[in-house]
Amino acid sequence: MTFRSIVVLTGAGISAESGLGTFRDADGLWTKYDLAEVATPEGFARNPAFVHEFYNARRRNLLGAAPNAAHAALAHLEAHGPARVTIVTQNVDSLHERAGSRNVIPMHGELLKVRCHAAEHVLDWPDDVSVETRCPRCGDAARGPAGRLGYLRPHVVWFGEMPFAMEPIGALLGACDLFVSIGTSGNVYPAAGFVDEVRGIGAAHTVELNLEPSDGASRFAEAIYGPATKVVPAFVERLLRADA
Ligand code: APR
Repeated sequence: MTFRSIVVLTGAGISAESGLGTFRDADGLWTKYDLAEVATPEGFARNPAFVHEFYNARRRNLLGAAPNAAHAALAHLEAHGPARVTIVTQNVDSLHERAGSRNVIPMHGELLKVRCHAAEHVLDWPDDVSVETRCPRCGDAARGPAGRLGYLRPHVVWFGEMPFAMEPIGALLGACDLFVSIGTSGNVYPAAGFVDEVRGIGAAHTVELNLEPSDGASRFAEAIYGPATKVVPAFVERLLRADA
């Protein structure tokens, strides 16, 4: 079957073989850190220095990582297949863009960007951030009376915050004829509910590609299990062969 509009939801599992940790696997990030301390606005307000250190370590780790065969296969599908392909990623690692994908929606933000408190300036930022770092775009205004106005935070969506681009994502889910979920445990909403939105409309085929059945596995029409660098290229090959 030839698909014309493909939405691909990705999670930490697609980047696992690039050397970046996942969150909920046996050695995942949330087994080492309390997410309430490092991934909530309350945690940041309580101890901004600790949160900055957490994201500085993830940013440094990311700079040594490269896209893998799964990221590359999705970029190839977008460039060479007949369908319009949009990647909605929960990942903040920018590996899809570095693999060449252009239609990417980073719904949980981007680790290599920061945002200022004063004016919500979003800035490319591959370096460390501390509580002393001030927004260069705000200039002197950042040194307002409170002195904290120009502080920076990771441009990453924390628990309790609304993900980005939910409206365009909803429109894409409503218009797609293939929804593929790759490398996500199906634990965190709203992303975990996307398959239900697609099934509610009833016009699309739904596929889960994962190392093992996710929490949402039963809601997919088809599932292929294995490491992303194996199952994703094979799946893309199958799609392109069907279009040949
Ligand atoms: N290939 C394919 N899938 C893999 C691989 C691999 N090599 N390694 C792990 N996985 C799968 C795991 O089986 C698991 O189902 O990837 C999934 C990772 O799940 P999580 O660690 O929960 O990550 P994710 O689903 O992306 O988390 C969603 O939670 O903490 C928040 O904001 C954070 O975006 C994140 C969100």
